[in-house]
Amino acid sequence: MEIHRYERLWTVAALLLIVAFIGTVAYGALGAGVQMVADDGGTVADPQSPTDSPNFQEPGVYRVDGEENRYEVYVLARQFLFQPGTSQPIEVPAGSTVDLYVTSPDVVHGFEVAGTNVNVMAIPGQVAKMTVEFEETAEYGIVCNEYCGGAHHTMEGQIRVVQPSEFDATGGA
Ligand code: CUA
Repeated sequence: MEIHRYERLWTVAALLLIVAFIGTVAYGALGAGVQMVADDGGTVADPQSPTDSPNFQEPGVYRVDGEENRYEVYVLARQFLFQPGTSQPIEVPAGSTVDLYVTSPDVVHGFEVAGTNVNVMAIPGQVAKMTVEFEETAEYGIVCNEYCGGAHHTMEGQIRVVQPSEFDATGGA
């Protein structure tokens, strides 16, 4: 069978393109550092009721014992507020490293800190963990970027990074 030279050329080009596309997909999945919520983020014991999980019974900001400038923040994202975050801002001191744990007791929400690359899904039954360094004093908005119901567009909160001197870790929300 005779294949025309140009047809053969196009066939090879199309095959190369397919290989290149598969390559970009593979790179996006494996090479670019994009991760799903890791297993070590843990799974909430009762997906219907993550508030029963010890760390989320009192959501809030906690100092990590024995480590300097290290904090853990437990946040519940729920219809239609962040707890803490909405009725009172999440407050952390500048120069701190913060492990953020986020989950949802109802439906899927987003937890995006506007203007940063902190952006995670709050999934019922899963605890998302992110480690963030807050170098300087600042105020950030938190928005829910997953449609979660009628008042989704009102679901927002705030993170305040304050001078270490005005910070006092209270825990609780
Ligand atoms: Cu919560 Cu949208």
